[in-house]
Amino acid sequence: MSAEFQHITVLLNEAVDTLVGDGDGFYIDGTFGRGGHSALVLEQLTPQGRLLAIDKDPEAIACAEQRFATEPRFDIERGSFAQLQEFVEARGLSGQLDGVLLDLGVSSPQLDDPSRGFSFMADGPLDMRMNPDVGESAAEWLTHATEAEIADVLYTYGEERHGRRMARAILAAQAEEPITTTGRLAKIIAEANPSWEKGKNPATRAFQGIRIFINRELEDLESCLEQALEMLKVGGRLVVISFHSLEDRIVKRFIRHHVKGDEHLPPGIPFTDDMLNKRLKAVTKAVKASRKEVDDNPRSRSAVMRAAVKLK
Ligand SMILES: C[S@@+](CC[C@H](N)C(=O)[O-])C[C@H]1O[C@@H](n2cnc3c(N)ncnc32)[C@H](O)[C@@H]1O
Repeated sequence: MSAEFQHITVLLNEAVDTLVGDGDGFYIDGTFGRGGHSALVLEQLTPQGRLLAIDKDPEAIACAEQRFATEPRFDIERGSFAQLQEFVEARGLSGQLDGVLLDLGVSSPQLDDPSRGFSFMADGPLDMRMNPDVGESAAEWLTHATEAEIADVLYTYGEERHGRRMARAILAAQAEEPITTTGRLAKIIAEANPSWEKGKNPATRAFQGIRIFINRELEDLESCLEQALEMLKVGGRLVVISFHSLEDRIVKRFIRHHVKGDEHLPPGIPFTDDMLNKRLKAVTKAVKASRKEVDDNPRSRSAVMRAAVKLK
């Protein structure tokens, strides 16, 4: 692994200990990154166990191919975790997964390498795609996005209350000269932001919003959770680490919905637990990083892990 851009794995033991119940099992790491979780999963598997990793990012795939080149229990797919069912069906393992792990968002190497175009801290080409071969870059999107669309992305995915003002400033600058760098976009947004928060870059929320939109992060997550539930075996585990409230809300609601089961049975009729169709049971309350982990790795401050086991 290149020493230049490294990723410190968040909630490493918590996630893997929760995920791996049967060392002979078949597991999925849907967000390989630099393989921190994958490596510990492999340590906990027997020679019969297997791990399939997925990542959208070509640099993550290159890292996996190098790091686990001689590991027969490991395999990797380049694509979205929203293709989970396709990857599992291709192996004839539908409904037989022992566990699915998602450690959401971007990796430190993606954020820290200015050439990937995620960073408001260092100037680089305005890209923001985890997979630079698919879809539009942020710069391409800005060539045709309307003020209402930009404002909507900043508000919905960035939770940025000054989204409309920022969108106006972005389009005014875009009309002068297309915005092609993260540095210029960060400056335009910062100047349009009337309320800078202490200790936070004024473009943080807007950049988060554009990144989530460009990578379809929430749509992919919703789709993957549904597929994971179908692909897990009874007793299989779903473990998800989120880094902001929008992701965590989706995970929390999904688990809660399937823990409660069908709430719309006709009133007045006695029903059994079975009729409620409860498909998941939570295996832990929301887990956060310890004080020590946050001190060692500030990025873990916002991490929330949720986990559930499949009942039916
Ligand atoms: C936080 S990092 C994971 C770090 C990893 N657990 C480790 O310990 O090295 C998230 C990774 O997931 C990938 N990713 C995010 N969304 C994805 C998606 N929808 N499909 C596939 N990979 C995705 C990113 O490219 C990134 O490499």
